Amino acid sequence: MKDLVPPSSGQWQEIETTLKRILASYGYEEIRFPIMEFTQVFERSIGDVTDIVQKEMYTFADRNGESITLRPEGTASCVRAVLEHNLLHQRAQKLWYMGPMFRHERPQKGRYRQFHQLGVECLGLAGPDIDAEVILLTAKIWRTFKLKNLRLELNSLGNSDERKQYRALLTDYFSAHKDLLDDDSLVRLDKNPMRILDSKNPGLKDVITAAPSLLDCLGEESLAHFQQLQSLLDSAGLSYEINPRLVRGLDYYSKTVFEWITDDLGAQGTVCAGGRYDGLVEMLGGKETPAIGFAMGLERFIELLSATSDDIEHANADVYLLGADERFAAVALNLADEIREALPTLRVQTHCGGGSMKSQFKKADRSGAQVALILGGSEIDAKQITVKSLRTDDEQRTIDQHALVDALRNLIP
Ligand code: HAM
Repeated sequence: MKDLVPPSSGQWQEIETTLKRILASYGYEEIRFPIMEFTQVFERSIGDVTDIVQKEMYTFADRNGESITLRPEGTASCVRAVLEHNLLHQRAQKLWYMGPMFRHERPQKGRYRQFHQLGVECLGLAGPDIDAEVILLTAKIWRTFKLKNLRLELNSLGNSDERKQYRALLTDYFSAHKDLLDDDSLVRLDKNPMRILDSKNPGLKDVITAAPSLLDCLGEESLAHFQQLQSLLDSAGLSYEINPRLVRGLDYYSKTVFEWITDDLGAQGTVCAGGRYDGLVEMLGGKETPAIGFAMGLERFIELLSATSDDIEHANADVYLLGADERFAAVALNLADEIREALPTLRVQTHCGGGSMKSQFKKADRSGAQVALILGGSEIDAKQITVKSLRTDDEQRTIDQHALVDALRNLIP
């Protein structure tokens, strides 16, 4: 679990603001739900035989003995909240959430015990049009942030009957190759053989590669859904790879699943992942409702941004007021507030702590401010102020204080 301190906290805020703007531009609305739920909500949704439920949840008894779990992901809580507030009564829902999730995993680069996700969930739409929109929305995020080295992997897990049939096939196949499996996979073979496909053990690579493919078990309807999705992505010019071994680590998925993966982050290269979960709303007590969503790991996303873009300069001011006269603070604190009142989007810092003009200018420069406002003795006497651009060669000008707001409006659009 990590602290987030300046300047990174500022970078996170800027990124979050841009992400929210993109989501709004697609008509998605925010949903907020608690960071914990009754343990059952996650057990039933994510599945008993998954790593998350078996090994990773922060579960504890509440003071009244009820079992509570810190959310390891958002989909289960989101569906629980949507049902509790009857949001599906009148229309489909396109929702997003952003916040901390908790998994007791072995920490390493890109894998933390408290991490943050941006999640999107669309409920009430059967696709494949919405599947395409959701995937194109993720591509829009990469484009906006100028991220290039991400590839899209795509698969279809079919409906529950098709998966049942596939599970039987896989059980036969892996049972015939039991001698090649590790202990983890032997447990999975009994309980949920599709999980074996998710194994990270390199020793199992060959036996997994030769396993039957789920795509061969898909019926007409699932196949048509998958093909239509592909042609929608094709016509949008988005490239992807079909990976028949992509099964995802949570049990609620059906039909479309996808992951965005990069090689720039080492072992933890999945930046964003999701898929369709047509059975989950019903499983949690609602009417049968198709749904699709994804979650992006913000730590991985931001790490990738820092790995691929130039150093993002840290700025915490647009305007910096400075001056060495003993009356400086009295005048500057008021003037700074007048600027904030008139131009509320500007970040205005008043120099505190005195020091020479040279050291004050150094601080102004480091703040990232565009403009320094100098209040020396002569300016204060004449109710004037000197405006100096810190980023261009423009001549500095001394103007009346009452003309300052207009001057700033022109200087910093
Ligand atoms: P997930 O694949 O478990 O899916 O997680 C989504 C993303 O969260 C991962 O691709 C990764 O970027 C990030 N993530 C997961 N665990 C960690 C960790 N320990 N440290 C850092 N980042 C991590 C879900 O959570 C589903 N709820 C996604 C979804 C939404 N499917 C449908 N709707």
